[in-house]
Amino acid sequence: MAEHSSIPSFLPPPVGGTTLREHVLHGMHAAPGATGEFTSLLNHISLAIRIINSRVRSAGLADLLGYTGETNVQGEAVQKLDAFSNDVLLNVLQRSGHCGVIASEELDEAILENNHGKYVALFDPLDGSSNIDTNVGIGTIFAVLRRSDPKLSPPALADALRPGREIVAAGYVLYGPSTVFVLSTGQGVHSFTLDPSIGEFFLSQPDIQCPPRGSCYSVNEGNYSRWTPEIQSWVRWLKGDAKDVPPAAEAAGFKTPYGARYVGSLVADAHRTLMKGGIFAYPADAKSKNGKLRLLYEANPMAYLFEQAGGGATNGTERILDIMPAELHQRTPLVIGSKDDVAAFRQFMVGERR
Ligand code: AMP
Ligand code: AHG
Ligand code: MN
Ligand code: MN
Repeated sequence: MAEHSSIPSFLPPPVGGTTLREHVLHGMHAAPGATGEFTSLLNHISLAIRIINSRVRSAGLADLLGYTGETNVQGEAVQKLDAFSNDVLLNVLQRSGHCGVIASEELDEAILENNHGKYVALFDPLDGSSNIDTNVGIGTIFAVLRRSDPKLSPPALADALRPGREIVAAGYVLYGPSTVFVLSTGQGVHSFTLDPSIGEFFLSQPDIQCPPRGSCYSVNEGNYSRWTPEIQSWVRWLKGDAKDVPPAAEAAGFKTPYGARYVGSLVADAHRTLMKGGIFAYPADAKSKNGKLRLLYEANPMAYLFEQAGGGATNGTERILDIMPAELHQRTPLVIGSKDDVAAFRQFMVGERR
């Protein structure tokens, strides 16, 4: 067969790479009785992400930096890119017709569509806003739930207030040196890298496994003075300066001190932790009594992905995916990472360690 010598080496061979579209199609063929709505919904999400990506890549030039002057339900200054990303996701998802309920970090209330949409879409359209103007990695995070009886009952907020274990798809996009889309629909975690020259995502890492133990911790130590003694003790242990190494940790042979990495964009910190192992934590503290991160569209999607990749996700005492939401924008402490590292964290929280 003739060599594809005419294709520049930096381009994936057109016949060699599996595209996101093909991957999702395979998933549909493997799903008994699938009507194609789910597949279409995922393709619409991919379209929205590629539109957001194109603006993220030109934000500095397209004067999208800076603030809109508004503040959102979280009380945070809304940056132009947050507003743009939110508008794109909302517009594309509404046009898909597949979602009965749509909720966003940037919208005070959930949108209840006048349709029989089978799905609920929850998203953080632009994660890591504080890093937009410093050219640091930012992202988009989403989760998809299936409504219980879309044909009979009208879309309702209750369709969104479901525990994360009911998620049917979750993913994030990291707009970093390359644009990487990490997705799970319940059959493992797979990453896709965007080829910007043709606007197509190609499978870059199938079946991602979070290493069972890492050597890096990721937490904002600027909050140290506000943490509980248990969290302070856990971090001191990770830094290798805890006098009293808990018996379980010693027996398990943890090698401290761990390295420290903290980007301040959940998507970037989570992606590094998923790929290399270790632990990320945004605990509760004296200022953020329930933690800072939002359960429905930050913690749950990340927890779903980490568990699908063999990792763990807890709020300190219970599994994130078992938390029953009471409010759309409720916050939760979030600890995700390698299963051994998350287990060690939990032991500190339940007092099995001094
Ligand atoms: P649908 O009839 O297209 O709404 O799909 C029904 C269910 O089948 C979805 O909620 C998924 O759980 C599963 N499913 C359908 N298509 C896919 C796909 N492309 N990848 C993975 N799961 C799928
Ligand atoms: P968002 O930009 O969507 O509001 O999310 C920001 C979050 C999350 O991305 C990150 O992990 C966390 O804020 C960082 O908070 P601190 O700056 O308080 O560490
Ligand atoms: Mn966020
Ligand atoms: Mn956000």
